[in-house]
Amino acid sequence: MADTRARRRYRSQEWFDNPNNPGMTALYLERYQNQAFTRGELQADKPIVGIAQTGSDLVPCNKIHVFLMDRIKAGIRDGGGIPLEFPVHPIQETGKRPTAALDRNLQYLSLVEVLHGYPLDGVVLTTGCDKTTPAMLMGAATVDIPAIALNGGPMLDGWFRGKRAGSGTAIWEGRRLLATGEIDYEEFMQMACASSPSLGHCNTMGTASTMNALAEALGMTLPGAAAIPAPFRERMEMAYLTGRRAVEMVEEDLKPSDILTRAAFENAIKVNTAIGGSTNAPPHLQALARHAGVELHVSDWEKIGHALPLLVNLQPAGEYLGESFFRAGGVPAVMGELHRAGLLDGSVMTASGKSLQETLGSSKSRDEDVIRPVDNPMREEAGFAVLTGNLFDSALMKTSVISADFRARFLKNNRYEGRAIVFEGPEDYHDRVNDPDLAIDDDCILFIRGVGCVGYPGSAEVVNMQPPDALIMDGIKHLPTVGDGRQSGTSESPSILNASPEATVGGGLAYLQTGDRVRLDLNEGTLNALVPDDEWNARKAAWTAPELHHQTPWQELYRKHVGQLADGGCLELATAYQRIAKDLPRD
Ligand code: FES
Ligand code: MG
Repeated sequence: MADTRARRRYRSQEWFDNPNNPGMTALYLERYQNQAFTRGELQADKPIVGIAQTGSDLVPCNKIHVFLMDRIKAGIRDGGGIPLEFPVHPIQETGKRPTAALDRNLQYLSLVEVLHGYPLDGVVLTTGCDKTTPAMLMGAATVDIPAIALNGGPMLDGWFRGKRAGSGTAIWEGRRLLATGEIDYEEFMQMACASSPSLGHCNTMGTASTMNALAEALGMTLPGAAAIPAPFRERMEMAYLTGRRAVEMVEEDLKPSDILTRAAFENAIKVNTAIGGSTNAPPHLQALARHAGVELHVSDWEKIGHALPLLVNLQPAGEYLGESFFRAGGVPAVMGELHRAGLLDGSVMTASGKSLQETLGSSKSRDEDVIRPVDNPMREEAGFAVLTGNLFDSALMKTSVISADFRARFLKNNRYEGRAIVFEGPEDYHDRVNDPDLAIDDDCILFIRGVGCVGYPGSAEVVNMQPPDALIMDGIKHLPTVGDGRQSGTSESPSILNASPEATVGGGLAYLQTGDRVRLDLNEGTLNALVPDDEWNARKAAWTAPELHHQTPWQELYRKHVGQLADGGCLELATAYQRIAKDLPRD
């Protein structure tokens, strides 16, 4: 058999082994060598595989990767490659103000620069906390060198007073218990900390577990990678195997563009319904599709995903947490159930080098209380509804979290009409929600605006507004809420969110006033302010765009170039850059 490796010239050799430019080659060699590589290693006709490190002291959700690094590197070495670890801009969901979402595109940009500008032939993307996963995949898709994702895994299950306390979900629940006086401040803090018992990302099916499940569903990880809890032995094995596989992917020249096809995105949307995935998945997947050059529209989420069933019984839509999901078989079990029901395209290529069908084999649920079969789901038709109307071109509603109580109270025949209460951002909401003058009752719909990509900036997770304390005391856990921001994937609130275009750029929400009647019709998929056209148009004509206060240079740059949530909240100019690895940077 011919030795293909002898004929193959790696991208990194343009740096380390380029006789046409001895001066530059010498410069690259001496400095990389001095950190403990031999010249032989750098010029050894071996692929150089980068490891994008997203974990650090600032990013506890991904810090497990600091400890997994030895295993990833060992895998790359044993596979015949040379590992080079590098940091990327940190994103910690629960640390970065004004919101981590502002930084997704910054981490994306930083990864694009590293992958394009350094001697790398392939990359292992460490993922975990919400935005780190899409940012890593988006960067790899833009550059299009062989890439494989490895997530850090969810935390162990949290427990508080004998009940599972899930990341985020425990906080929303605790806030309600605090409002009704069932727990005090100290107990609230204990409950919150109990929900976070080990290293790892959120153990609920929040945005982190969702995005990592979707990375696997897209084919960008090894099978089974998403659900292994962070502290488990299997997580370290997966780190090693992922490193090894990255080297093979370079040899096979298996790139994101071979994996991230329209069919793969359709599979991912279906998996998102089956797992009860986060409402943050659509903007992130839209962004990834655009950077990968795949046509995907926000309405596809309803067209492709709505009719599917919810199979996974995890908080916030269900009751269990990450450990149970792993033991029940994780993403391969969910995809196995969907595939056996003929709901997935099994022919798509995956990072393993095999088709999805081959990797799934006979995967099925190992615990039908946690991962249900398609013929006995948690809920039918559990995907997102994509709404339109005079308040926005599109907004999403996660129907899998609509409780029987909410449905009975607010959704008679899938319709509801109420009085709008409009808040200008979260500060205004906190200041006024308990104000008796607003007389908020169960005839009201709460609106929040100015919290989208441009407005906040970055789009804030604030749409799941809690009702006034007095209503919570009366047993009303949720009012209908609407906004141009997002909500945490760990919230079980059936908000109408990601409204695009946002109020700040003149979307319809900008013209709504407190006291307007508003009608939701889920049969039609509409939400409309019941304001006569001439009145509506007069408000529109009188509207002026708010002045934006930028606090950092990045906020200004971001606001200048960001698009809307329906289109992924991308830096619009960046979407023109595709598969750029082919265009080698100047020496
Ligand atoms: Fe980081 Fe949930 S806050 S994973
Ligand atoms: Mg969040």
